[in-house]
Parts: sequence; structure tokens; C-alpha cells
Amino acid sequence: MFTKRNEPDLDGNPGLQDNLRDAMRDVGGQVLLFGDTGVGKSSLVKYAAEDEERGTLIVECLSNHSYEDLVETAVRKVVEVREVSRTRRGTVESEAEVSGGMPFLMTLRGRLKAGAERGSEFEVVAQSPLDVLLKAMHESKQSLWVLDNFQNIVDPGTRQLVAQTMELMSDRATETGDIKTVVIGIAEDAVSLIGGSGSYRRRTSEIGVPRMPDDEVREIFTTGFNLLGLMAATDILNLLVFYSDGFPYFAHLLGLNVARAARRQAQTHIDANLVEAASKQAVRAVSTVFDAKIAKAVEAGGDVQPRRRILHILASSDQRAWKASDLITDWEKELGDKRERYEFLHVALAQLVSDKHGAVLRRSGTRNKYVYQFADPQMRPYLRLRSI
Ligand SMILES: Nc1ncnc2c1ncn2[C@@H]1O[C@H](COP(=O)(O)OP(=O)(O)OP(=O)(O)O)[C@@H](O)[C@H]1O
Ligand SMILES: [Mg+2]
Repeated sequence: MFTKRNEPDLDGNPGLQDNLRDAMRDVGGQVLLFGDTGVGKSSLVKYAAEDEERGTLIVECLSNHSYEDLVETAVRKVVEVREVSRTRRGTVESEAEVSGGMPFLMTLRGRLKAGAERGSEFEVVAQSPLDVLLKAMHESKQSLWVLDNFQNIVDPGTRQLVAQTMELMSDRATETGDIKTVVIGIAEDAVSLIGGSGSYRRRTSEIGVPRMPDDEVREIFTTGFNLLGLMAATDILNLLVFYSDGFPYFAHLLGLNVARAARRQAQTHIDANLVEAASKQAVRAVSTVFDAKIAKAVEAGGDVQPRRRILHILASSDQRAWKASDLITDWEKELGDKRERYEFLHVALAQLVSDKHGAVLRRSGTRNKYVYQFADPQMRPYLRLRSI
């Protein structure tokens, strides 16, 4: 059910998925993927690795993970570990070989779970974490160390060690058979994910994953419905694509709920009623965080309700960022309500940025040239589904 991603990446390079494939084939090249939540970053890496027949050790990064934890978590996926110990480098005999300034040495003993000689002994004594990782990956025939949700790693020291590892893996590519690090995370750019320092960036393909274009989102629905023997008219598909707002995550959620509703009502034709029922279910699945924010954001009552109306306008708009003047244009168009003064709209926009009103919007730029965006990009499909 995977839809190929042909669109340009966030830097405008055409052929997102082909670029990732090329990055995986580039001997010594390391890989970094960034983008909004739910745009399909993890899926892209999963499918690209499968296509390239590369074994992956995927680590879900947590905020309390140290560099050694990141290594150990990966190693534990392929080694049944009996014993681990960590030593500060300074306290170890100087003849122990240490690569690249890693501050810790690890000793690790266990049995191989996967790889050529499954069940054979695995032992490293007083080696740098990198050497432990490379040996475990080599023996278990895995070639991608994937650090997913890397935005959770906030400690600059840990980030720096990962960057350093990328450089070392690059330098040692011929000797390791091209074992690579793949860093994935929610971020606006590569630097904010891993930091700008060091020369690791020279050897790293940085790929920004955009929202999915509508034609690819549509393909998710048509492929899924075909498989399930369901039919949907063009206007129904258009509505589902509109609700998904470029997030394959929402497309899946909606598709699943539509299929369930169809089965419940023994229908093979998807009509507006089914979509209505499905979107209610889908809203329930994502609502816990968003509900509370919207409750703070919209007015409880009143005639004008500028905050509610602003959110409605932004939810229906096809832009992703707005100046106050865009909003005024839309306000007049949508409501046929032309006014002398629009202070109330500026005030309402500022409120939607504040914590008191749920911090639904984010503001950048300077006074008089502010640009507004949804603070969480998934807020918009949520508002569309809720039909605010
Ligand atoms: N190309 C695709 N074709 C079909 N479905 C996809 C595609 N990419 C992603 N999906 C679906 O969309 C959902 C979200 O994708 P994924 O988890 O890869 O996003 P992500 O960017 O890693 O999100 P997060 O930042 O929250 O980890 C998944 O359920 C996945 O199955
Ligand atoms: Mg992910």
C-alpha cells in the first residue's frame, strides 16, 4: 500500500524517493531526513532500505538516551546481551584502541541473535561504542543504524557524538562495507536537528520530506479502496484528500475508518454519510491534545467570534502561512463583511498565539510583517475533520 513519492524534497530537488535511494547507494555517504510529524519520514526509510536490501537497526530515540544508550539499544537488537560495562576512556590502559575521541569504552558479551553465525559468541572488550556497534552490525549483516525521532535527543553532547559517528562511518566506509547512520527527526531543517558544527555535513545527504502532494494522497485512498472492493466517486475522494491535508497519516486514519463504517453498514459504495461517520471516528482518535487547545482558543459565545472565524478561514485556506492582510482579504470574501478598522483581527491573531488561548498559531517575522502558521501542522487536518 506504499505510494511512491515523486515530488521534490523541501529544498526543491525533484524525485524525493529517488534521492533517498541515491543517498543510500552513495558509498560513505550518511543520511539525514527531516520534516513535519506524520509526513512519512520513517516509512520512506523503511521502504528505501527494503528496496536496497539493507538490514536496519532502528532505534527510537528517547530524551533520556545517552550516546552509549543509542549504541547499546541497537546492539541489543541483534545480540542477546549477557554483560555490559562502560568505562571512562581515561581510566583504561592506553594501548586500548580508541577511535575518534569517543569519551567512553564499552565491554559487551553475549550471543548473536541474527546474522551469519546465529547463536555464536559475541564479545568486545574495552572498545569505543562505535567499534562495538560496527562489529555487531557487521556480524549480524545489518548496514543501517537508524536513529528515529532524533528531535527527542536534546543534549548537545549526544548530538555531537552522533555527528562525529557519521563522520567516522564515512571515513571507514570501505572497511565496513558501507555501514551508515540514518538520522530521522521532526525539524524544519538539518541544522536544528543535529546542529551545524563539524564537517559531518559534507558527507551527509540532507533530505527534507514535504507534505504529500494531493495526487499521491489520492493514490493511498484509491489503492486501499480497490484492495477492499470499495468504490468512491470523485467528489468523495476529493473530500477525503482535502481532509488529509498532505498527511499520509490522516489518509490512513480516514481510510481505515471509512472502510470500517462501510463494513458496518454493509455498503460497497462510499457516500457522504459514510465519510461523515468516519471523520467523527478519526477526530476521536486524534482529539486528546487538540481538543483542549481548541477549547481554549475559540470563544464560548458572542456574535462575531473572531478567533473561531479565523480558525475556520485558515482551515479552509490552501495556503500554509498567512499575513494579517491575507486574513483580512479572506474575512471580507468569506463573510461579505467589510470594515473600516481591523484591530480586532490583529488582537484575535495575537491571542491565538498565546498560551492562554491554546497557542494554536505560531508567529514569525517582525512587527507589521508577522507571518502566522499553525503551531502544530496537524492541527489543520484536525480542524477540517471537525469542520470548525
Ligand atoms: N508513501 C506512503 N504511502 C502510503 N502510506 C504512507 C506513506 N508514507 C507514510 N504513510 C503512512 O502514513 C503514516 C505516517 O507515516 P510515518 O510514520 O512514516 O510518518 P513520520 O513522518 O515518520 O511521522 P512521525 O514524525 O510522527 O514519526 C503511517 O501510517 C504510514 O503507513
Ligand atoms: Mg516517524
